[in-house]
Amino acid sequence: LRDRQPIVAIDGPAGVGKSTVSRSVARELGLVYLDTGAMYRALTWLVLESGISVTDRCAIAELANRCEIQLAASLDAAQPVRVWINNREVTSAIRSLEVTANVSAIAAIPEVRHVLVKQQQQWGQKGGLVAEGRDIGTQVFPDADLKIFLTASVQERAKRRQQDFLAQGQPQVSLEQLERDIAARDWQDSNREVAPLKKAAGAVEIITDGKSITQVIAEIVSQYDRVFARTD
Ligand code: DC
Repeated sequence: LRDRQPIVAIDGPAGVGKSTVSRSVARELGLVYLDTGAMYRALTWLVLESGISVTDRCAIAELANRCEIQLAASLDAAQPVRVWINNREVTSAIRSLEVTANVSAIAAIPEVRHVLVKQQQQWGQKGGLVAEGRDIGTQVFPDADLKIFLTASVQERAKRRQQDFLAQGQPQVSLEQLERDIAARDWQDSNREVAPLKKAAGAVEIITDGKSITQVIAEIVSQYDRVFARTD
């Protein structure tokens, strides 16, 4: 017998549309959405804001230990999660190019992961959530009821990111630059020592090239229905 509500783990590299998909899946299934990337981003923002060097592992670990992060998923699935760190709202600040450029380095620090993973596991103790990140199925919730690994080619992801920037009215970045950035971030996330990005055992891989967001959401919801039809 299950002693907690369901947990859905959604992992995958940058720019596969994980956030949009995860938010909508959470909404459709009536579960809480947990954006773990937003936590690494918030801490990165705080490191930059504090003037601490991104290579000062000790100072960053101390900051991670002392900081308080709050997340509030919006009721509107089209809106990103609202984020506060030490009571300062950083919802849009954590999406800046500067934070994006530095977050992989911060997320590679073992002490940082230790603190943030513990926090995520506490939030998930009772279940009832869709958690999105890189290590959800492997480290954070290895006993998740459903694990999804979303992928897409670098070219497809660069194209989507360019459209996102356009939609947000951010300065334009060339496709070549975006492809290089995405490939570099993939490499860093997949080759770090602690909790590298990889498909969890038992995860269902969904390659999203050529699929609409709606199609991917429907696929995940049908996987979820299958899991619960089997075990209920
Ligand atoms: O999904 P995102 O782009 O917001 O993630 C930001 C960074 O945080 C990305 O470089 C990978 C890292 N991250 C991580 O290491 N582990 C997670 N569970 C989530 C994100």
